Amino acid sequence: MEPRLITQLLDQYLQRQSASVKLRIRVYLALRSAILDGELPAGTKLPPTRVLAEDLAIGRNTGVHAYEQLTAEGYIEARVGDGSYVSDAVTRRPKHEAPKRLLGARREGLSRRGGSIANNAGSSIAQRGAFTPGVPDVELFPFHIWRRLVGKYLDVSHAHLLQYAHAGYGPLKVTLANYLRVTRMMPVDPKQVIIINGSHQALDLCARMLADHGDRAWIEDPGYWGARNVLTAAGLQLTPIPLDDKGMAPTPEDWAKPPRLVFVSPSSQYPTGTVLTLERRLELLEQADQAGAWIIEDDYDNELHFSDRPLASLFGLASRQRVIYMGTLSKVMFPGIRLAYLVVPTDLVDAFTIGNAELYRGGRLAEQAALAEFIEEGHFTAHIKRMRGIYGERREVLLDAMQRHLGDTVTTTAGHAGLQLVYRFQQPVDDTMVVAQSLAEGVVCRPLSMYYLDQARRQPGLNLGFAAVPTERIGPAARTLATVIERELQRR
Ligand SMILES: Cc1ncc(COP(=O)(O)O)c(C=O)c1O
Repeated sequence: MEPRLITQLLDQYLQRQSASVKLRIRVYLALRSAILDGELPAGTKLPPTRVLAEDLAIGRNTGVHAYEQLTAEGYIEARVGDGSYVSDAVTRRPKHEAPKRLLGARREGLSRRGGSIANNAGSSIAQRGAFTPGVPDVELFPFHIWRRLVGKYLDVSHAHLLQYAHAGYGPLKVTLANYLRVTRMMPVDPKQVIIINGSHQALDLCARMLADHGDRAWIEDPGYWGARNVLTAAGLQLTPIPLDDKGMAPTPEDWAKPPRLVFVSPSSQYPTGTVLTLERRLELLEQADQAGAWIIEDDYDNELHFSDRPLASLFGLASRQRVIYMGTLSKVMFPGIRLAYLVVPTDLVDAFTIGNAELYRGGRLAEQAALAEFIEEGHFTAHIKRMRGIYGERREVLLDAMQRHLGDTVTTTAGHAGLQLVYRFQQPVDDTMVVAQSLAEGVVCRPLSMYYLDQARRQPGLNLGFAAVPTERIGPAARTLATVIERELQRR
C-alpha cells in the first residue's frame, strides 16, 4: 500500500480519538486499531517516520515512539535497513472480506436507520491515486485564481457574505442558469436554481420535499451507492430497475406499481456510462407524467465528456415539469467545495427554498461569489477544457494498459464521459477479493458488485478511476492489478 494511502487512513483513525489523549498515544492507538481492523494487513510496509510526520503534521519523535511501542508489543517488526512492517503475528481478517469503512466500529445505541447507514457505507477512504473512481485531480486546480477570488470576497467589505444563505447567491444563480442554457440546452430561469451543499444533500432535499416515508423510489441497478444510501435513510422503499444497453429499462409490470421518485443518470449512467436513449427518455417522461412520479436527473459529470459535445439534458426535453435537475461542482472544480445545484420546476421553487433553509441552512456565500466570478471570467470553461484533455489522455492510457495486461479477461463498455471506466470479468470472479488484494498492493478500486441492489443480478467487475492518477502511474498500477486478477483466477 502506498505510504500516502496509509497516512490518509491513519488520519481518519486519529480523527476518531479524543483530543484530550496525548498525541503520541493517539498515533500509537491509530496504528494499532488499523492493524487490528485488518486495514493494514500483515506484511504491509509502514511509511517512514519522516513521511508520517509530514502527512499527519506531527513531530517525528511522536511517530518514532508509536513505532517503538508497537514493535515492543509485536504488532510491527523493524527490518534493518529496510523499514517497519506489520507483523505476521497479527490475526488477519479473512481475505475475502471487502474492506470495511472505518466508522463502523460502534453500533450499539444507534437507531435502525443509523445502523443501516453505518453498515452500508460506500464512500472510499482514498481520494487520490490509482484507481479511486469518481474523483478529479485536485492538484491541477488553478489555486492562484481561486485564492484571489475567494480572498476578494472574504473581506469586511463583503461581510454580508458570511451570513446564512437561504436562497443562494443571486449572481451565481444567474451565471449557472446561463451556463445550463448554453451547455445543456435547458431553459432555466435563475429563480429555479437552488444552491445546496453537494448532491447528497440535494437528493435528500428532493426525497424529503417530494416523498413520504415508505414511498417507492426507483434507482438504476447497478447504480450510484450514494443515492441508494441517501434515499433509504430518507425512508423510501427502493426498487432496483435493471439496465440494458439503452439505459434504465422498466417493464410494464414495474409501471403497474409506479414510484414516487425515479433517480436516473441519463447522460452517463453511473457507473456503467450507458446513455439513456431518446426513445427511453420520451417513454420515461410520458410514463412519469401519467403516474405522477418525479424524475431526479443526476448530471454529475457530463462536462467531462470525451466526444465532441455533451448530450442534452432530460430536463430540457421535458414538456411538462416533472424533472428535477441535479448538477454538482465536485467533478469539475473539486469535491471539497461542497456546492451542487438543483433546477426545480417553477411551482416548487418556494417550497424547496424554504426546505433548504429549514433543513440545512445554507452558507458559503463568499465561495459562491468567487465561483460566479470564476465562471464569468472564463476560468471555469478553461479549466474544464484543460482537464478534459488530461483525463482523455489518462483514459486512453488506462484502456491500453488494461488491454495489454489483461486482454480478453475483462471487457469495458467505455462510456463517452466521466472519470472512471467499468470493466467486467468474462468469467466468475469474486471482485471483492480482487479489490481487497489489490488494496494491499497499493491499488484502490471498487467492485462492480457493490453497485447492485438486487443480489441476483450482480455481475463481477471493477470500477477504475483514471482521473486522479498521474499518467505515468497508470501503466504500473494496471500491471499490479493484472497480477492480482491472474492470481485470483488461478486460485479458482
Ligand atoms: C453518480 C454521482 N452523482 C453525484 C455525485 C456527486 O456528489 P457530491 O455533489 O455530493 O459530491 C457523485 C460523486 O461521486 C456521483 O458519483
